[in-house]
Amino acid sequence: MAEAVELVLRPPSDHVPPALLWGRDLDAFAAELDDPYLGAARLHDGPDIVWGMRSAREGWIVTRFADQQTVFMDHGRFSAHNNSNVQDVLGFALRNYPLDTDPPDHLHYRRVIQPWFTPAAIDRLEPLLRQVCDTLIARFEDDGGCEFVNEFSRLFPSYVFLTMMGMPLDRSDQFLEWSAGFFRGGDQDRLTALRTIVGYLKDYVAERRTLPEQDDLTGAIIRGQIGGRGINDEEILGTCLNLYLGGLDTVMSSLGWYFRHLACDGALQARLYDTPQDIPAAAEEFLRAFGITATRRQVIADTELNGVLMRRGDNICLPTYMSSRDARRFADPHRIDIDRATPHMTLATGAHNCVGQHLARREIRVVLEAFISRFRNIRIAEGETASWTNRQVWAVTRLPLVWDRR
Ligand code: HEM
Repeated sequence: MAEAVELVLRPPSDHVPPALLWGRDLDAFAAELDDPYLGAARLHDGPDIVWGMRSAREGWIVTRFADQQTVFMDHGRFSAHNNSNVQDVLGFALRNYPLDTDPPDHLHYRRVIQPWFTPAAIDRLEPLLRQVCDTLIARFEDDGGCEFVNEFSRLFPSYVFLTMMGMPLDRSDQFLEWSAGFFRGGDQDRLTALRTIVGYLKDYVAERRTLPEQDDLTGAIIRGQIGGRGINDEEILGTCLNLYLGGLDTVMSSLGWYFRHLACDGALQARLYDTPQDIPAAAEEFLRAFGITATRRQVIADTELNGVLMRRGDNICLPTYMSSRDARRFADPHRIDIDRATPHMTLATGAHNCVGQHLARREIRVVLEAFISRFRNIRIAEGETASWTNRQVWAVTRLPLVWDRR
């Protein structure tokens, strides 16, 4: 069952035609059904673009794949500058790099971290992914089940990420608590969590400046060059923050939805065991079907999108969990069909496409292989249900699973 999400309404801007004035909060609307993906998809019954709310910001909600793709690709009209309002929340100047920048500057920031996320770099990481995955599973392998979120999915990607960053693994619980506060807390929790994360990262970066040659992702950021000059303190902090917020929570949130589905789809489990070469296709279909983010852009100058007049400064919300369930793009969009090969935008597209996408895909694949090869008849424990929240990043928060050993 979903946690309650409060509804916040704001007065509409005067340029919004009444027919497009939806005026509701997307997260609260999606949470009205037991399946938030179906809940949100009800918006597809109305206009393609509506004026509504999400996360205390009012603006245009772009519901269709084609329109979202235009916004993602056209950085000349739609800016990411104010994407993750961290400076609004913190009250002092700090941006998420590279997320809160537009091309051409964006490329400088992206280049600092990109080498750590190429397919070849992820190949080198794969033994670590397998080792972390196997170690975690060994803890409950003989118990006939586990609480998937607490015992596995929140730990696995965070151990990998913290190892990449050179951050202390024994603080992972603390880190996860902070990022959960930021992504799923109320306004005050978000503020506290963000201040705490930034405070920690500041101290961590200061400490790491004394070890400039250390060969990890944090070291690479500290040694980064931005257009021929050394990266400055705010940019280092903002890059670490972007990675922290992008890297700690996303795969965890995604895996919960995938295993919630898998636990109800015995035929898919059997197919993946019989033909493990289909696991990458399953990972891709899970990514498509269970988008977790709704990112943002701002209109740079008055413009039009799909017949809708947008004013300079308008916020645009891009819920990827809606574009991935768009029937104009994906036949029978709510069906999980690992044979469909239509590209999706759960990991975005355009300049800001997810820098962690190869890591995310590999993590998902490794986890599916590990569970499917060991366990059969994976299911939700009798009398139990999954819990989820769709505040900010959509996440399954509790998933009690049982299984039989192979
Ligand atoms: C299934 C997991 C993931 C999903 C669904 C996801 C989703 C996304 C999306 C939609 C964007 C684009 C945001 C925008 O254009 O406004 C993005 C960007 C980004 N993601 Fe991911 N992400 C995932 C995993 C990761 C991981 C594992 C990392 C790092 C360890 C990461 C780091 C980033 C960063 C740094 C950006 C900003 C890229 C840029 O601005 O150039 N993400 N992600």
